[in-house]
Amino acid sequence: MAESNSADLMDKIVSLCKRRGFIFQSSEIYGGINGFWDYGPLGVELRKNIRDCWWNDMVRRRDDVVGLESSIIMHSKVWEASGHVGGFTDPMVDCKVSKQRFRADQIFFSAVVVDGKNVGYVTVLESERIAEELQEKAETFKRKKAIQGKLEPVQPRDFTEAKSEEIPLIPSPATGEPGSLTPPRAFNMMFETYVGALRDESAVAYLRPETAQGMFVDFKAILDTGRVKIPFGIAQVGKSFRNEITPRNFIFRSREFEQMEMEYFIADDDDWAKWHRYWIDWCRDWLVSVGIPASALSEYNHPKEKLAFYSKGTTDLMFKYPFGVQELWGIAARGDYDLTQHSKASGQPMEYFDDVKKKRYVPHVIEPAVGVDRILLAILCSAYCEDQAPDEKGKMETRTVLKFHPRIAPIKVAVFPLLKNKPELVKKAQEARDLLRPYMTVFYDEAGAIGRRYRRQDEVGTPFGVTIDFDTLGEKGPELADTVTLRERDTMKQERVKISDLPGILLPRVR
Ligand code: GAP
Repeated sequence: MAESNSADLMDKIVSLCKRRGFIFQSSEIYGGINGFWDYGPLGVELRKNIRDCWWNDMVRRRDDVVGLESSIIMHSKVWEASGHVGGFTDPMVDCKVSKQRFRADQIFFSAVVVDGKNVGYVTVLESERIAEELQEKAETFKRKKAIQGKLEPVQPRDFTEAKSEEIPLIPSPATGEPGSLTPPRAFNMMFETYVGALRDESAVAYLRPETAQGMFVDFKAILDTGRVKIPFGIAQVGKSFRNEITPRNFIFRSREFEQMEMEYFIADDDDWAKWHRYWIDWCRDWLVSVGIPASALSEYNHPKEKLAFYSKGTTDLMFKYPFGVQELWGIAARGDYDLTQHSKASGQPMEYFDDVKKKRYVPHVIEPAVGVDRILLAILCSAYCEDQAPDEKGKMETRTVLKFHPRIAPIKVAVFPLLKNKPELVKKAQEARDLLRPYMTVFYDEAGAIGRRYRRQDEVGTPFGVTIDFDTLGEKGPELADTVTLRERDTMKQERVKISDLPGILLPRVR
């Protein structure tokens, strides 16, 4: 990851994504819509590569995981049974003056205590430095009010922990003044819609907030048709929708995003902790295989008292984003809760007959659930790099490079004829492009100085560049005819290879 892992790293990444066609704000010409993003030509390729790698490794290369693509809108009873209608909420707080809306668990406050006496409150929004920022604000508060005495260290709490008598005294993060924050209210994050022509209660449906329920609802159908045996998994990739109160940090928390989830069903008496560990390790290794450094990853075990009653354990793989260490991938041991809920609500048995153990039971499940967009952002943050490289005249300049793992890079190889006005060079370059195109994404570029063309590809993370020059035409002797320079993005090293050898050299390196 780039060393300048600071606030402006995020700005640089966002600006590069827009400038080079990875990611745009949705509906930008109308002023944009908060929490929704569009993926441009390079973004689409990057997303597709992430998805394909996951699908290949999770489904196609395993005997024990099968795929599913369930519908986005399902029967509303699915969401009643799963607990989402009743409980998929975030605590929401409004500022009556600024009309801004916050998630209560992202507002942090502390009493300002001087000589043991509570003299007021200070507030900050969630950040990497909550305690430090609160302490600084407490000191400013004391100084501005000219309060004498010893300021005690702040005790940060989030707004869900505020007592009712404290709420009117806590300053709004928007105005800095107390008295305008409402008590937290539960806000259901599911988007509602209506199915059919009638707009009444019976027609209410929801855009799915997770793909997981499709796997539970179709469990029986897959069991009956899929020739699967416990332990086995069902995997799905698809869009999910959450009406997040505060979408933020670029694509990290959006209202429309894509999930890659897998439900791994195990026997009721199997060692769930062993499988939980297995999937945590699998997910970590997979992230490393697509170019996320192990050093940027850590594990967070949800404390027992914060787990849902049915959950045996949840571990999040955390990534060090520029805006802080945040959840990337959740791996949850959910017991038999989901299948049991759907069995009760639908009246359909969700049991498995184990012909080895000669018994019938409701399987338990381990669920690795991740967002494509969060992986994509982690990959961008890991790949972004600025180094020094010589320009056309040999003068050193700053080079921006996305050091994507070749598996993930949107374009695998760029092909350049040295000059665009030499038909023989162009013809050879097009031959090389056409030779490679069946195997990988190739970008053909004949515009501008060769150094600038390399830089343009470095900036979008293309791992290899192929240049067709006069040597290719045999002008320096027949031994060089039909050879090209192959340039490697990170080292900028160049080697001379035969055009006909290019697929054989590049294929193993980009797969
Ligand atoms: N089925 C379990 C489930 O959905 P989750 O922790 O709510 O669990 C799983 O979501 C993953 O989906 C998260 O770890 C994250 O990668 C991604 N995710 C969740 N909410 C998201 C959002 N608003 N924007 C982008 N990604 C999100």
